[in-house]
Amino acid sequence: MMPQMDTGELHALLAWQVELGATEAIGDTPINRYASPMRLEAAAPAPAEPAPAEEVDPVAVATEAAAGARDLAGLSAAMAAFTHCELKRGAQNTVFADGNPAARVMVIGEAPGREEDLAGRPFVGAAGRLLDRMFAAIGLDRTAEDAAQALYITNVLPWRPPQNRDPDPDEIAMLLPFLRRHVELAQPEVLVCMGNISCLALFGRKGVTRLRGRWAEVLGRPALPMFHPAYLLRTPAAKREAWADLLSLQARLREGQR
Ligand code: URA
Repeated sequence: MMPQMDTGELHALLAWQVELGATEAIGDTPINRYASPMRLEAAAPAPAEPAPAEEVDPVAVATEAAAGARDLAGLSAAMAAFTHCELKRGAQNTVFADGNPAARVMVIGEAPGREEDLAGRPFVGAAGRLLDRMFAAIGLDRTAEDAAQALYITNVLPWRPPQNRDPDPDEIAMLLPFLRRHVELAQPEVLVCMGNISCLALFGRKGVTRLRGRWAEVLGRPALPMFHPAYLLRTPAAKREAWADLLSLQARLREGQR
């Protein structure tokens, strides 16, 4: 409580303050210095709280960015501009695709390796050279201009995982909207899913050893799971099954031509 003073005492107090040099009022509103600190705090404006970091849902961001892409060039740019995947930080390039986008067959691999990361194109290393030979055996070539002989190649992930580790489920989930849109825009007749990560992304499960060779419908079109060429390099005995799958693909394409 402010002690009660009469007019004489107030004048004396004022004169004493003027003598001390306090000749100017520093605020428009008086401050009650006798109030308890609690009450002073309550009267003072609360210090501004730092704004909470905005929660970002990378899958939602990717879905919106992918949906906004009107063509493959737009999609490639949208992927390159996507900043929510940590893999991008360690990558030299965003590896989008290679081959002829008009091809009847779209091959979906896992992720760029070291050579692909440096070149900015999928499947250019040892596994890629085997992939080229495999498809050449049934008359398909990524450099062909004629869609009937051509091949279009991409990966589930456009950025190389460090030490070529398996991508984690979150990484796959946030890049899947781009892959879906990629297929939608390229409109291949059939998909070839190479290896476990491609199967996980598109079929929802790994286990290419069981899945391979069995056609299924994925993203509204026939899809054939196959062994990954990197696996075939390590396990040449599995080339027999890979050859059977290539013949199945060739037969399917011939059927579609009739
Ligand atoms: N393995 C893949 O799955 N993709 C590439 O681009 C290279 C190697």
